[in-house]
Amino acid sequence: MNTGKSEIISNENFSTDYFKIQFNAPHITITAQPGQFVHVQITTLYDKILRRPFSIFDVNDNGILTLIYKVVGKGTKILSTLSSGTFCDILGPLGTPYSLPGIDEYPVIVAGGYGAAATYILAKRSERKGVLLLGARSTKDLILIEEYKQLGFDVKVTTEDGSYGLKGLITSLLESYFDTNDNGKIKLYGCGPNPMMLAMVRMATKYNQKLQLSFDHEMCCGIGACYACVIKVKDSETDNPWKYARTCKDGPVFNSDEIFI
Ligand code: FES
Repeated sequence: MNTGKSEIISNENFSTDYFKIQFNAPHITITAQPGQFVHVQITTLYDKILRRPFSIFDVNDNGILTLIYKVVGKGTKILSTLSSGTFCDILGPLGTPYSLPGIDEYPVIVAGGYGAAATYILAKRSERKGVLLLGARSTKDLILIEEYKQLGFDVKVTTEDGSYGLKGLITSLLESYFDTNDNGKIKLYGCGPNPMMLAMVRMATKYNQKLQLSFDHEMCCGIGACYACVIKVKDSETDNPWKYARTCKDGPVFNSDEIFI
């Protein structure tokens, strides 16, 4: 984990409320792993002592860090106004990573909305290309379809309002995928809203599949000190059935058999 001032190279609106921002941040890119995140201090934000967490979308060998974010509040609204040449302090890379699939494992990535941004490096670094099951409320929340296709991934889409792909929840698509899968041994990954993730945990148990999930949670310190970002995990060390785990330090990536429902 490192911290340092990083210059914005570009900051563009690429789809409805979604932005792609690039930083010159070699202190992050050199060790970034799939599923990790960064904690960004947004210049000019009045409470800038509080950083904002963002999944790492992509990194390259030239030290360019790319993040994708949705404008959802004051912090991301201000971030969307920052122009190239502005510097932000970036802490990272933080958190536990996804483990890559073995060469004999077919990667199945399930993403809700811009959860697909957190799994992109995983897809990029997977030797064997697989399938992205992408779900969103409607077309305007679908991003990165072409980017995954360019990596060689098959992409299947559901929207809740039926405006693109199949109508319904992404978990229904996953269930039918399990019922018809002919790709042999698979390795399952997820990133999205919590109800989707918990449904995936139940499904992984039902179909006896290994699953890794990245939990998107509000954070404060980002380094394990404040416990603002906890989820319940099984406790195998005491008589209690569960304990809290910090998504910033113990996660954000967890194995599904760790999660307490
Ligand atoms: Fe402080 Fe996770 S955000 S412990």
